[in-house]
Amino acid sequence: MTSRKTILAANWKMNFLSEEAAQITEAILPDCRDSKRTEVWLAPQTLGIPAVSRVLDGAKNIRLGAQNCHWEKSGAFTGEISAPMLKEFGCTFAIVGHSERRWVFGESALTCATRAIGAVNEGLDVIFCVGETRDDREGGRTIEALREQLKPLFYESGVVEKVEQIIIAYEPVWAIGALTPAEPERIVDTHCEIADMFIKVGIKKVPPILYGGSVSTDNFAKILKLPGVAGSLIGRASWSAEGIRQLLEIAESIS
Ligand code: PGA
Repeated sequence: MTSRKTILAANWKMNFLSEEAAQITEAILPDCRDSKRTEVWLAPQTLGIPAVSRVLDGAKNIRLGAQNCHWEKSGAFTGEISAPMLKEFGCTFAIVGHSERRWVFGESALTCATRAIGAVNEGLDVIFCVGETRDDREGGRTIEALREQLKPLFYESGVVEKVEQIIIAYEPVWAIGALTPAEPERIVDTHCEIADMFIKVGIKKVPPILYGGSVSTDNFAKILKLPGVAGSLIGRASWSAEGIRQLLEIAESIS
């Protein structure tokens, strides 16, 4: 599916003042420099981006991104941030459609898709998150729910041409911030289903698909070895330099 490096994406959510974010970044730089197979993608809170950017200063195998992005370059959109504003501080990607955006802040599938295409049109890569709720899972509606989240993205014009800038993160809502990740078979099957959705709409170059939701140093190796898993989007386990170092070491040990 892809020959690119394993993606270890750290979603720092609403954590760390700038100084702390910079310190964690500084502490992981030597490990990132030496990594052969893995790229670390850091997504600090928005105001932490400049401080992390200063520390990175073109460092290898590590990229900086945001946790959301508006589709317009500027305008009357209180509380939002645009791709040019993120790029000004060295961001090369944005997470879009994270379950907390969808379920806590009520962002619709269309809003998420519009954000994604706006960001890719401005040159950012996008980690586009999809995932079913516990009700979806228990009601046997997982695939339907994922399709509903992806459908507006497929209908956005330009998505075929820009598909190389899109990375999907499959994150079951019920597994985020929980005790255990989804079962391995479920991850493999769902990644296959997602890939199929792209192929069925005529997008032959299927984006890399990350798994996210309760990834930890205990289960990361097993998850990365699953077919169709291009990396992970990780919350809690990435909230310290030591955590990221250990995750990186695991990713590096898997060929
Ligand atoms: P978690 O969060 O790793 O803490 O479960 C994952 C995410 O929200 O992306």
